[in-house]
Amino acid sequence: MSEEINIGLLGLGTVGRGVFQLVSRDNRVMANRLGAELRIKRILVQDPAKERGLPVPRELLTTDYRAVIDDPEIEIVVEVIGGTGVARRLVMSALGAGKSVVTANKELMAGHGQEVLAAAESQGVGLFFEAAVGAGIPIIHPLKELLVANRVQRVMGIVNGTTNFVLSRMEAGYDYREALKEAQALGFAERDPSYDVDGKDAAAKTAILASIAFNSRVGSGDVYTEGISAITPRDIMYARELGYVVKLLALAKLSEGALDVRVHPTMIPVDHPLAAVKEAFNAIFVEGDAVGELMFFGQGAGSLPTASAVVADVFLAARERRRSSVGQSACTCFNSLKFMPIEQVRSSFYLLIEAMDRPGVLAKIAKVFGDHQVSVSSVIQKEIGAQTAEVVFMTHRVFEGHLRAALTEIAGLDVVSGVRSVIRVEAGKE
Ligand SMILES: NC(=O)c1ccc[n+]([C@@H]2O[C@H](COP(=O)([O-])OP(=O)(O)OC[C@H]3O[C@@H](n4cnc5c(N)ncnc54)[C@H](OP(=O)(O)O)[C@@H]3O)[C@@H](O)[C@H]2O)c1
Repeated sequence: MSEEINIGLLGLGTVGRGVFQLVSRDNRVMANRLGAELRIKRILVQDPAKERGLPVPRELLTTDYRAVIDDPEIEIVVEVIGGTGVARRLVMSALGAGKSVVTANKELMAGHGQEVLAAAESQGVGLFFEAAVGAGIPIIHPLKELLVANRVQRVMGIVNGTTNFVLSRMEAGYDYREALKEAQALGFAERDPSYDVDGKDAAAKTAILASIAFNSRVGSGDVYTEGISAITPRDIMYARELGYVVKLLALAKLSEGALDVRVHPTMIPVDHPLAAVKEAFNAIFVEGDAVGELMFFGQGAGSLPTASAVVADVFLAARERRRSSVGQSACTCFNSLKFMPIEQVRSSFYLLIEAMDRPGVLAKIAKVFGDHQVSVSSVIQKEIGAQTAEVVFMTHRVFEGHLRAALTEIAGLDVVSGVRSVIRVEAGKE
């Protein structure tokens, strides 16, 4: 087999090294299907002297992006730098130069998806981003192509490994700080973990999933987002007592013609398939009207798992180019759906309220709930001090606006010391 398809790699960090390893090893299946060998011709890095732990020929490395973008022999550019600065400029330049682009960059796709997909479309070249959500878990192509006969009703998942690891450790008895410390020690969390624990990483991925599932443009800023840092060991304990686990859940569904897109801690029943997803694993649950329920599960990060999806995209980009059918990966957002304001979303809630332990307190709180059309399904009360009790309420499905108004009033009652926790509950089918 003499023909080669040349790839320019932008970045040789965690993912770039995995891509180099997978492309460099003998892969007869890919070569046979393509009728050509994939070859990495050039690699853009910041520091060519850095030790990479890989036998990368020195002459492949460059610090000059033009050595990649201006090389007419390079047909496919793989962007694994990350962020929306240099990466965005280089992706736009590569598309402008008529190259197909593969990226693992969720920030780029969630923040500037429209711009880069439009550039790919106008150039008639492909832009692939399977690794941007769930790393090696196939989800973008299944949603975009394999489920095309369905009307997707709901996409729900655990799309951030760091927070899932922390919550799994909290289930095992750690508090939030200890759990985060261990995640950092094991390399599952960055030194500055805020992008993950505040839910921003999950929001970017949810925006990408929702855009594809509902054919309507969703950016990170459109996703209602709460992180996990307020979750306490008591919440985890009460969840268990009530038959739930707490997960940082990504959720996208169509509700009364509007898109309801959210990322927040959620209690899900212990027997829900997503409850079994532990540690740094990811899983995405999709409901289609024809196919029913599907779950995609696997490692949502890491060098080789992510490279697995990137190289698959390279394969698809190469095949498109050989078949002269490039540019079919353009934006699928033909709808312009409006978003459902959080106040109008209906959910069940778990509420932890600290109050005085004396007769009549529960009745006072219950009256406020009643005044705001919040209907309570169960109550647990526990003494936590001489005169103080912790009261856990589970509500039926209520409008979030009504609940918030009730909680503001309850927090002001003289018998209440504070509303300590508010967590939405997802009970499965609606
Ligand atoms: N890590 C994962 O598990 C994972 C999973 C899914 C998706 N992703 C996505 O994949 C992308 C890459 O992540 P990563 O973890 O591989 O990042 P990383 O380890 O930080 O690697 C980044 C690479 O980009 C190079 N680079 C940075 N700035 C540059 C510049 N201005 N010019 C040229 N090269 C530059 C760095 O060069 P030097 O090596 O010379 O410093 C490095 O090789 C991100 O978009 C990320 O969100 C990552």
